[in-house]
Amino acid sequence: MSAIMTSTKNSSALGYQSFKIGEFSFDRCEYFAYINCPTAEHIISIDDFLRALMRDVAWGFFYGTVAFDDVFGTINHYGNVDVYLGTKHAEWKHAGRDYIENFKSDELMDLFKAILSDWTNEGFDPFAAPQETGTAWGPKRGNEDRLISRQREVAKRMVGIPGDAPLRTDEGGYPVNRAFPDVDQEQPVIEAEPGFEGELHAYNFFGYLSRSDVTWNPSVVSVIRQSLFCPTTEEYVLPIDHGNDRVEWFLQLSDEIVWDIKDGETSTPLATVTMRAGDVSAMPGDIRHQGQSSKRCMLLVWENGSPEILDMIRKGTAPMVPVTF
Ligand code: PHB
Ligand code: FE
Repeated sequence: MSAIMTSTKNSSALGYQSFKIGEFSFDRCEYFAYINCPTAEHIISIDDFLRALMRDVAWGFFYGTVAFDDVFGTINHYGNVDVYLGTKHAEWKHAGRDYIENFKSDELMDLFKAILSDWTNEGFDPFAAPQETGTAWGPKRGNEDRLISRQREVAKRMVGIPGDAPLRTDEGGYPVNRAFPDVDQEQPVIEAEPGFEGELHAYNFFGYLSRSDVTWNPSVVSVIRQSLFCPTTEEYVLPIDHGNDRVEWFLQLSDEIVWDIKDGETSTPLATVTMRAGDVSAMPGDIRHQGQSSKRCMLLVWENGSPEILDMIRKGTAPMVPVTF
């Protein structure tokens, strides 16, 4: 046998497991993830694949479409999930190579967690900025189950209220990130009128964000009915291209993010939106957005968590776009 016969995607020879669900199968080699379905094989760089998979797992398939790239992704129907290849790409559809299959959320989640656990090598943190982690490459080398099982911080009412999501501190393992040494860390003094103790709350929001140990992973810091404030710190590239199924708002709190906007159904590029500190935008529900940030920055994602909104959009009682000109 000559060297040119060497198989490049032999998961088991490299110590990795192969995975299968329905008609989809998943393999990895030292550099790539391979996704097979009855109509095609698709290849994604393994670091990108694991970063995207980490978000899909941590966010429970999120709102709407989580596109790993222009070809592969998941569509959340809240209880069941579509896995697709080419379905959101005009040329793949045109060529008849698109394939989509529906799974129960629990079953797909179990599979995605198993892939993430088996394929994440020791030293690689899929939540971290590239400069703050080791690499994903090579044959199987240990695991990072501790890092990949970190739970997203989700407040019931507001961060810092006793019994709710805790504040981040040095002692709690959340040092100030290297990008935010100038952020004031003082906590506000709360002086409630007699009788109102325990009903008034405040905390240092910028101090909290400056201590985020992950990137592109919104935590929920305050909740008022379906209004969710989901701030996050961003560095390098959002590992997924998000096709929301409702309007969402972005408030750029510091520095800059460049957003690539594509048509949600065809992946056709539509716009580039540069947001600088103080800028506010609203993303329509029929597009996809992927952010890029050259320096770690602070972003507030404002989500509408309503379970009814999809029905309202379908009936025409809630808009798919934030404003009609
Ligand atoms: C988004 O898809 O809207 C999104 C996701 C994660 C982030 C920021 C924005 O960190
Ligand atoms: Fe989004």
